[in-house]
Amino acid sequence: MSHAVEIAFIGGGQMARCLVEGLLRRGTPPARIAVADPLANAREALATQLGVSVYAQAADAVRQAPVWVLAVKPQVAHEVCQSLSMLAVRQRPQVISIMAGVTLASLQQWLGIDTVVRSMPNQPAAIGAGITALHAAGVLDAGQRAQIEAVFSGAGATLWLHDEAQMDLVTAVAGSGPAYLCLLAEAMQHAAASRGLPADTARQLVTQTLLGAARMLDETDLLPAQLRERVTSPGGTTEAAIAVLQQAGWPQQVDDAVAAASARSRALATPPAQ
Ligand SMILES: NC(=O)c1ccc[n+]([C@@H]2O[C@H](COP(=O)([O-])OP(=O)(O)OC[C@H]3O[C@@H](n4cnc5c(N)ncnc54)[C@H](OP(=O)(O)O)[C@@H]3O)[C@@H](O)[C@H]2O)c1
Repeated sequence: MSHAVEIAFIGGGQMARCLVEGLLRRGTPPARIAVADPLANAREALATQLGVSVYAQAADAVRQAPVWVLAVKPQVAHEVCQSLSMLAVRQRPQVISIMAGVTLASLQQWLGIDTVVRSMPNQPAAIGAGITALHAAGVLDAGQRAQIEAVFSGAGATLWLHDEAQMDLVTAVAGSGPAYLCLLAEAMQHAAASRGLPADTARQLVTQTLLGAARMLDETDLLPAQLRERVTSPGGTTEAAIAVLQQAGWPQQVDDAVAAASARSRALATPPAQ
């Protein structure tokens, strides 16, 4: 049986690990996955816990692999791509970037090839409940789309964007979004626990409330505002709370937060000075 590597990950950090675990859950043999990471501890953990092949040098991981996943921090993207450009031109792989902000034009220029796709997965990919937005430079045939979607299939849902400029907003809403909800969970738990609820009770209540609300959003046709109105009776408790949040400018703050994340994503797209 051949154990040719199908997918090589450049960067073996948190998100790469989520995607590798998803691939393994969907039945990809570990021998088909290679991961490059400069950190010996990270490599050892990936090799012993997940059974994938690990390499200190990116060039060694990608050799022969038809699909490369760029999973390093955006700040080192330029350097990493340039170090792989000769191999990219020779091997003509399908490259998938999961890096926030780094544009297709930069990736194509740095790698010297056109077959590059941008993606933005999010943290719930770790449990197969993420969502990944994808954008390709040109038109892909069904086989190419399937090959790319397969990389994320164990991580949750996927969707395609027509306009690359929308990737910054996707990053701001879905990439960073889980952190906003965790901040909300933190604040709700703190509010409950500091007023006397046992911490584990507060945690259970808040977690299940977020889960339940998310499932209602997913499983009913109702808009968020409609669901909110259904639990907001005139003169009731929810109305009192929502009034405080509105008065404090909470919806505007969320808008500002999304704008800040989106602007940061655009800033990360600026190539470093030569
Ligand atoms: N985490 C998320 O929720 C999320 C969501 C969407 C997209 N992303 C994107 O995913 C990318 C990775 O994020 P992350 O959270 O997984 O970061 P991370 O945990 O820091 O992982 C990046 C890994 O790449 C390694 N690395 C650095 N230079 C390398 C090189 N030349 N060759 C191979 N590996 C190298 C790093 O090693 P060192 O630590 O030694 O530098 C680190 O282990 C980022 O571009 C981010 O924008 C992340």
